Amino acid sequence: MRYLSVFCIALLFINCKQQIATPTGLVTENAMVVSAREEASKIGSDIMATGGNAFDAMVATELALAVAYPFAGNLGGGGFIVYRKNNGETGGLDYREKAPLAAHKDMYLDSLGNVIPDMSTVGATAVGVPGTVAGVFAVHEKFGSLPIAELLQPVIDLAKRGVVVTEKQAKRIEYYHDRFVEVNGDSTKFAQAFKPGDTIKYPELAKTLTTIMEQGKDGFYKGEVAEKLATFIQEKGGFVTVEDLAKYEAKWRDPIEFDYEDLHIISMSPPSSGGVTINQIFKMIEPHDIGQFEHNSAQAVQLFTEAARRAYADRNYFLGDPDFVDIPFDVLQDDAYLHGRMADFSFDKATLSSDVGHGEIEIVESMETTHYSIVDAQGNAISATTTLNGGYGSKLYSEELGFFLNNEMDDFSSKPGVPNMFGLIGAEANSIAPEKRMLSSMTPTIVEKDGKLYLVVGTPGGSTIITAVAQTILNVHEFNLSMQDAVNAPRFHHQWLPDMVIFEPEGFANTLKEDLKSKGYIINEERTPIIGKVDAIRILPDGTLEAGADKRGDDKAVGF
Ligand code: GLY
Repeated sequence: MRYLSVFCIALLFINCKQQIATPTGLVTENAMVVSAREEASKIGSDIMATGGNAFDAMVATELALAVAYPFAGNLGGGGFIVYRKNNGETGGLDYREKAPLAAHKDMYLDSLGNVIPDMSTVGATAVGVPGTVAGVFAVHEKFGSLPIAELLQPVIDLAKRGVVVTEKQAKRIEYYHDRFVEVNGDSTKFAQAFKPGDTIKYPELAKTLTTIMEQGKDGFYKGEVAEKLATFIQEKGGFVTVEDLAKYEAKWRDPIEFDYEDLHIISMSPPSSGGVTINQIFKMIEPHDIGQFEHNSAQAVQLFTEAARRAYADRNYFLGDPDFVDIPFDVLQDDAYLHGRMADFSFDKATLSSDVGHGEIEIVESMETTHYSIVDAQGNAISATTTLNGGYGSKLYSEELGFFLNNEMDDFSSKPGVPNMFGLIGAEANSIAPEKRMLSSMTPTIVEKDGKLYLVVGTPGGSTIITAVAQTILNVHEFNLSMQDAVNAPRFHHQWLPDMVIFEPEGFANTLKEDLKSKGYIINEERTPIIGKVDAIRILPDGTLEAGADKRGDDKAVGF
């Protein structure tokens, strides 16, 4: 009788996992783009409707976000894509910014060896060599099917026509107003006040994009645009030169791939920490069967938190630009090693981060960066995350060229043991060197189930990106939520240091927090951050696509 009940419960559980959650997001038959702004999603979707593939749509969407979502979409930043072609071939592209040639390990330290406040975060000194334009041309050259002019013209038209300011955007511009003026003076476009419903036109950006359309990658990295850009950054006190721009190359890299139960997960490799860290989190969770617990219950939160704590401790110590440091991939991704890391995990009490590593720091909330997911009618998929690092990057805005510059240099470890703007403590592996790429948390991810395309997922959120992507995948796979519900579900975060669990303000009961506190967890209750802003696609068994466009932003899915 006992065996029969165990069998029935197991059967119920298996059936529950096999049930297909009814879609609650937009469903389309053929193709879809989900991004931070409807204008960008529509341009990408239209490209596919006129015969372009997902890679063509990536080029247009990426650049359209620079117009429609300058908070994080960019020409002056960088990013990563992970792709899966309809024949199952996978790959990744690294168009991450680089340290300029003039950079050196102690460039952000004063004569006493202390980190100089703001130098790696605000203004021209914070700017790394941008990679985005090289990224879109690398994608187009390898996989594009339509002429570049067909992809860029709608983006140029959008820049000329302008973009209507949303309520959320008006609030963001107001929030950063003083910083814009401090960095750029009071006569640039973003020194003005904008209210919801206003239209912001970008004629200067349209001109820059036209040069790029006519001259290709060199239209940005060489010639007039490059000279204007380098001169502008240097006049403002920064380090990027025409030589830095001319030398920039995007790099194709093999993604991190691993199995979790019946899923195959494909995510970005270093210099993004996303793939390795998410691999570690999933592999530490796997033996404990998180799906047996209620969604966001104390046990599920504890299990996830303890895996994240250990994975982030490794992230911060071992990971950096693989062209500069040796990363012990074999060990970091080894099942036995990861199971060993969880040997002292107990549901009775929290592990202390001080028993896993060192440090005492503050975390800063963030939903900077932006992610978009694309699936085309042929079944090609792209997961792309792109960033200026902080909101509007370094706040340095080239009025002449029409775009913001990144503050990505802050993603390096300026000084081992001192946290960056995301509260992440770095080590030697992520120290600054000329032409080195700074470590990222961006986690563009694609999931296969039974060998078929299943999910395309990613998010902004600085250090919280990895946990937000992992929770979204678990929400669909373990807790049987639809794509839209999985994206909207409340999220929590732990990153080893500071040793605290951060919960989104809505959706977690006080009783849960009290239960965790009684077990020794430190709960961050002062701040009310949004954790991530996930844009994702689920492929349903009949081949239709369900969007998850995050309710936390103006994010929107468009498809056909
Ligand atoms: N700038 C955020 C990241 O790359 O993780």
